[in-house]
Amino acid sequence: MAAWVLLALAPVAAGAVLSFASYYGDHMVLQQAPAGAVVWGYGEPGATVSLALSRDAGIIIMKKLVTVKGPSGTWMTVLDPMDHGGPYELTATQGLENVTLEDIYFGDVWLCSGQSNMAMTVLQVANASQELAAAARYPLVRLLAVAPARSDVELQDLQRLDLPWAVPTAANLGHGNFSYFSAVCWLLGRALYDARQYPVGLVEAAWGGTPIEAWSSPRALRACGLLEDTGRVPPGQPVGGPQTPSVLWNAMIHPLLRMALRGLAWYQGEANAFLHREQYSCSFPALIADWRRAAHAASAGQSQPLLPFGFVQLSTYRRQSPDDSFARLRWHQTADLGVVPNARMPNTFMAVAMDLGDEHSPYGSIHPRDKQTVAYRLQLGARAVAYGEKAVVFQGPYPTRALLDVTTGLLNLTYSQELVWRRRDTLAFEVCCSGRRGWVPAPLLAVGSRRATLALAGCGLALGLRYAWAEWPCEYQACALYNSQGLPAPPFLLDTSREAPGTAQPAGIKELLLLPSSPGGL
Ligand SMILES: *[C@@H]1O[C@H](CO)[C@@H](O)[C@H](O)[C@H]1NC(C)=O
Ligand SMILES: *[C@@H]1O[C@H](CO)[C@@H](O)[C@H](O)[C@H]1NC(C)=O
Ligand SMILES: *[C@@H]1O[C@H](CO)[C@@H](O)[C@H](O)[C@H]1NC(C)=O
Ligand SMILES: *[C@@H]1O[C@H](CO)[C@@H](O)[C@H](O)[C@H]1NC(C)=O
Repeated sequence: MAAWVLLALAPVAAGAVLSFASYYGDHMVLQQAPAGAVVWGYGEPGATVSLALSRDAGIIIMKKLVTVKGPSGTWMTVLDPMDHGGPYELTATQGLENVTLEDIYFGDVWLCSGQSNMAMTVLQVANASQELAAAARYPLVRLLAVAPARSDVELQDLQRLDLPWAVPTAANLGHGNFSYFSAVCWLLGRALYDARQYPVGLVEAAWGGTPIEAWSSPRALRACGLLEDTGRVPPGQPVGGPQTPSVLWNAMIHPLLRMALRGLAWYQGEANAFLHREQYSCSFPALIADWRRAAHAASAGQSQPLLPFGFVQLSTYRRQSPDDSFARLRWHQTADLGVVPNARMPNTFMAVAMDLGDEHSPYGSIHPRDKQTVAYRLQLGARAVAYGEKAVVFQGPYPTRALLDVTTGLLNLTYSQELVWRRRDTLAFEVCCSGRRGWVPAPLLAVGSRRATLALAGCGLALGLRYAWAEWPCEYQACALYNSQGLPAPPFLLDTSREAPGTAQPAGIKELLLLPSSPGGL
């Protein structure tokens, strides 16, 4: 029998003994109302398990009876929706056996996943000692870290935890390098606690160097034509490395999705700058849709169908590199639309990070240490999109209109927000001109209110326009354009070859349509 079969069956073999599933434990946060928290575990097939939620030394406030299913030997129940608060105890009883979990709170549970920039721990970031010392101020932000694991089949439960549910301490936040606990996840959760003032549960399931294919189910891969060339491992072979399609989905994500969740946070994509890069505009929206569908179904409908999904747009890698792989991947992270949420990525939010380069990071320049700014931008999105805080601005300025003065060759771009011209960078904008090869700089001449004026001199027909289209587009926090809240204008790649129909402009003025493009399209 293949090794994975034994692993998959291991918890079931222990099923006669009453227990909770691996990721329930003392100090956990369970999802609050309006969702009902999902609780499951193992028992004797056919036996009745009784669950009691109590507080204040044994006052029972909720009871549920469930029958252990055969042959899996599992039971599952959905608790009545609970307002945030605690501490509670949860006791499962089967015959004479019982198991009690203590110090449980209800609040919001976020799952954080991705590759090394998500795995980077609080120990590794800027001002690490300060951040570690601050852990004690957040006893109601609780942590769970999933151990790296792979499987060829979808597992019901996790194989191993790196950190069972815990109260944050300097020791478990700064356990080591790229192990636990994720700095981006922690700083996001901490900010959500500050903003919402109730318990937050953070679940980290990340693995460095892993491509999106490893985190995608076969369904999601098939939707993007990525299943054929994935070299699936024949039965009986040892499970493939962490780059193998679906192995991390199977072992680290699928088991967790039974738990009711409030949102997902994702920092991944560096590995796909050099693998199936152009398919990322399909594989990323497909992963989001698939995780949501699976989470909703596995939680008996308790995780919302459009679970809020936040992510970090790629930061920087090599300072002088002319390669545009990172720029392309950043664009694909928005499904080639530039901003999120959008029609292909509803209920999502993005933290722009291209201006947070850190050439001398001791962990390599691909791992910038300023995760505070990343998490700050991400929590703005969470508050605006996931929590509907209307006053929170979470997107940077984006162009909405373009007027070209044909005689002077000056292009006025109108932005969605007031602009702050932080750096006079003449290379930030580039134009693709007809009759010439490649892209040429379109110097930014003036910025006023919501308008940026570019010089397209010598460009007959501007076929395309792009902004910050480079692996390392600017120095630290010094890209050309920001909004007044300090959020950077995101990069873009627009087709400007068409004139807006039916707009009456003075002679010599053309309004150009700004159409999102794809790197192959210009
Ligand atoms: C749980 O089991 C212990 C014996 O192991 C027993 O003393 C206790 O009363 C039980 N608690 C409940 C709530 O059944
Ligand atoms: C983490 O990496 C840094 C930089 O390479 C090194 O100095 C430090 O010893 C490492 N820490 C651990 C716990 O491995
Ligand atoms: C590090 O701490 C200093 C001093 O408090 C602060 O000015 C700086 O912004 C912090 N850096 C980050 C990335 O948070
Ligand atoms: C562009 O903006 C400038 C002000 O910066 C204005 O003088 C000019 O008329 C505008 N041109 C077009 C084509 O709108």
